[in-house]
Amino acid sequence: MVSVERSSDKKRIEALRSELGEHDNRYYVLAQPTISDTQYDALMRELMELEKLHPELITPDSPSHRVGGAPTKEFPPVTHSVPMLSLANTYNETEVQDFDRRVKTLIGNERYGYVCELKFDGVAISLHYQRGLFTQGATRGDGTQGDEITQNLKTIRSIPLRLLNPSKDFATIDVRGEAYMNREDFRKMNEERELIGEKTFVNPRNSAAGTLKLQDPKIVAQRPLNFVAYYLLAKQRTDSSHFDNLQQLRKLGFPVSEHSRRCKNIDEVIQFWRKWEDQRDTLPYDIDGIVVKVDSLAHQEKLGTIAKSPRWAIAFKFAARSVQTVLKNITLQVGRTGTITPVAELEPVFVGGTTVSRATLHNEDYINELGIRPGDTVVVEKGGDVIPKVSGVILEKRVSGTRPFRFGSACPACGSKIFRPLEEANYYCENSECPAQVRGRIEHFAHRAAMDIEGLGEAIVDQLVTLEFVESYADLYDLRTKAKQLASLERWGEKSASNLLDAIAASTSRPFSRVLYAIGIRHVGAGVAQLLVRNFPSIDELMSITKEDLERIPGIGPRIAESVMHFFEDKHNRKLVERMRKAGVQLAERFSKSTSKSALSEKTFVLTGSLSTLTREEAKQRIEALGGKVTSTVSRNTDYVVVGEEAGSKLTKARNLGIRTIDEPEFLSMIGKTSRTN
Ligand code: IVH
Repeated sequence: MVSVERSSDKKRIEALRSELGEHDNRYYVLAQPTISDTQYDALMRELMELEKLHPELITPDSPSHRVGGAPTKEFPPVTHSVPMLSLANTYNETEVQDFDRRVKTLIGNERYGYVCELKFDGVAISLHYQRGLFTQGATRGDGTQGDEITQNLKTIRSIPLRLLNPSKDFATIDVRGEAYMNREDFRKMNEERELIGEKTFVNPRNSAAGTLKLQDPKIVAQRPLNFVAYYLLAKQRTDSSHFDNLQQLRKLGFPVSEHSRRCKNIDEVIQFWRKWEDQRDTLPYDIDGIVVKVDSLAHQEKLGTIAKSPRWAIAFKFAARSVQTVLKNITLQVGRTGTITPVAELEPVFVGGTTVSRATLHNEDYINELGIRPGDTVVVEKGGDVIPKVSGVILEKRVSGTRPFRFGSACPACGSKIFRPLEEANYYCENSECPAQVRGRIEHFAHRAAMDIEGLGEAIVDQLVTLEFVESYADLYDLRTKAKQLASLERWGEKSASNLLDAIAASTSRPFSRVLYAIGIRHVGAGVAQLLVRNFPSIDELMSITKEDLERIPGIGPRIAESVMHFFEDKHNRKLVERMRKAGVQLAERFSKSTSKSALSEKTFVLTGSLSTLTREEAKQRIEALGGKVTSTVSRNTDYVVVGEEAGSKLTKARNLGIRTIDEPEFLSMIGKTSRTN
């Protein structure tokens, strides 16, 4: 009786295994699942229960290993049957053409072709299959010997535990490929880790590498690792090709990249590289270049290997977007409102196409969360269209003698005491005469989006402030009386002096809303300024209202109201207003008769990213209804770029061109709609 039961359980176990194997393939490799997760879990549970009943029937290829077996103490070393080679790197088209010339010379007269593949930014892995079953998996190690991490690899669902119908030639093989993590999975995982107070990973690759080194496969099983196969080692005839092998790998049940292409010549290879350099962000995972392989296996053999790299393949890399460099120091920068921002002073590195030597560190909390110290080796990232950022620290490279960074107590520009208000992330310098703030306020005042005073950039402002020509933006309007002195300044002359004075004079005709933005009231951006003006169309009205009047305006919260009140209560600020009034600056709005219909007349908008309260089409309709125009590309003619969630390269372009960018609340107030959250 018992043996009858056992034999029927054995059959059921076998059936469950092949069924689960098929579902893994459908779900993780083909992305075409045919059953629900719950149904899958039920099958897995049934298998595990039966295996518990008959432990002697557990085989190495059982899908029950997917959830992780017993922890290992250490990973035994394995010698690779064929060394795991690395690839020579190239970074530009000339070097790739040199590679092609060498190939041509060595192959002689025969025609040859290439296969181009994505270069996955993960961890190289080798998998051994014996008579169709996955028996051993290892890391690359030094290329000759790696770590045996079979139990960890078994938890990666896209790695087949048994091959799908292998023919005799393909039952005992080695498969090489990359274990990696999708960016989105990585982000979610880090978010969860942060929630429970665990250290976050720097990037998907580090995260994949760190995961494979874990000694508890049960934890590995919970991490979102993927696998892609790109190389097959089998005893096969050499009239075959690498591209055929990729198809073979797919047939055997491995995930193989759908983006691999045959290329007839090196020009096609270069096209492939350009395409992916441009489109890499559309992929869900990171790639750091392409891999170019001579297609024919006979040609590969003829070309052979030198040192540790094959002569038949090369990595054609993209300019790195994430690099390591040394954080030489952290300095403090004082903004126009007295905000003190820490800045990373870096050992210059080339990343994402430019050399980076400075990056903002935002505030004290950001520095503490990253755990970075001056002297540390840090990770600097620069995506296709983002500002460089310091995203992590390589603790293993920390040298002795480093200390955590302290903000100190004095403003680096004026020496006044700095302070960090409760519940705020920033430190402030309270001294409104602080030269750094003075410069910042004047630069802001002159900015294109504010009073738009041409020629009054950072360097000129610095010179004028240092030589005490100006101490406040109101002083700009008195410069007329000092035309001669200006003209005699170093690098100036009459022409530049009169140009600047003309530009300053022209700024008196800017509309009141721009003036209100330009005078630099904390928390009053361009959108808020417009909103204020719509409700209080003159500075006199604004100066005589109460905090409650302000808070009644939808879109104006206590923070803004407080700041506006605070600004106009200050005697010094009131004096500046009076001096500007004398200079003829517009301190009241002159509404045209058809304000509402033409509020945005002749303004050109570009929308980027998604808005939470409007679809793109609705936003477009609103703008057009108010007389504005919407175009799809950012140019010098653009007036505003509306920046939604996950804005793309248009935002970078806007920043580069100095075009005004406005966020959703600002945009909503501009079109006379309040945001949901307010
Ligand atoms: S082929 C002999 N193909 O790049 C074949 N490698 O130094 C050698 N890599 O760490 C590898 N994507 O892990 C190959 N499509 C691809 C690849 C790839 C990423 C990695 C590999 C190795 C490095 C090459």
